[in-house]
Amino acid sequence: MKHELSLPEVLSQIEKTVRPQFGKGRVADYIPELATVDPKKFGMAVRTVSGQEYVIGDGDEPFSAQSVTKLFALGIALNRIGDEVWTRVGKEPSGTPFNYLSQLEHEAGFPRNPFINAGALAVVDMLLKGTRRPDLTVRDYMGFLCQNALTIDEAVARSEIETAHKNRAIANLMKGAGTLHHEVETVIAAYCRQCAITLSCRDLARAALPLAAGGYSPVIEETVFPARQARRLNALLLTCGVYDSVGSFAYRVGLPAKSGVGGGIVAIVPGQAAIAVWSPELDRHGTSVVGFAALEAFSQITNCSVL
Ligand code: DON
Repeated sequence: MKHELSLPEVLSQIEKTVRPQFGKGRVADYIPELATVDPKKFGMAVRTVSGQEYVIGDGDEPFSAQSVTKLFALGIALNRIGDEVWTRVGKEPSGTPFNYLSQLEHEAGFPRNPFINAGALAVVDMLLKGTRRPDLTVRDYMGFLCQNALTIDEAVARSEIETAHKNRAIANLMKGAGTLHHEVETVIAAYCRQCAITLSCRDLARAALPLAAGGYSPVIEETVFPARQARRLNALLLTCGVYDSVGSFAYRVGLPAKSGVGGGIVAIVPGQAAIAVWSPELDRHGTSVVGFAALEAFSQITNCSVL
């Protein structure tokens, strides 16, 4: 990366820059168990393609990955069934919140992209064709990529399964439209359990590194998907990864990224590094306020951006 400062200096500068952002967002509470997390947590990890790794703050503390898992579930689906994925889900930004219903109804139950909840439910449905427990498949794939045994937080999973009214509405709409093949409750349970996978920023930066390295994982020293797939996933992240704030995210950060309502964000610097950040207070789009600011500071300080 071309910048004057060393990575540890960059990260310590970011830590100072983001301090005023605490208190501006709200921890997700529509999944009751997520509301129990300390809002002041902040962690960040950078893992470079060349093998450097820096972690600050709470970057080794596991958090609820939530929608960040959708990226890895999609990766598995693409590895398994290739372009057939696109017969079940689109590739266009939705311009709507992640759990928006009426667009789906207008579009005959066909999800705009794999990162909104409807699209992620379709991906779970695709994975259910080959395995009864896609949540475990995603957990193990992410764990394999970061070389750490990851767990599913059962309390978070249960809490979401009990309160997933909106996601059930989405799944029912899709089931009625014929765009979901398995039983609604089977898909919802697998989806909620997938979202409840926990991992740290260090784990996440490691797991996402193949997206920065043309499908090769320097962590496990193996090619995990073709370079073309890394490019395509990055394109989807850039255009759909943060839902209805992709425009301002591209404007302020300029990197492909995926957010989750646990407060995690993973961002990719193609050819160079994967960055993971975690801080639980969210903006109204479900993106970590402090995490967003940290990534903005990162791209400003390092001049790393795809744009
Ligand atoms: O389905 C939900 O609402 C959550 N399990 C995941 C949503 C999420 O993380 C959105 N991303 N920012």
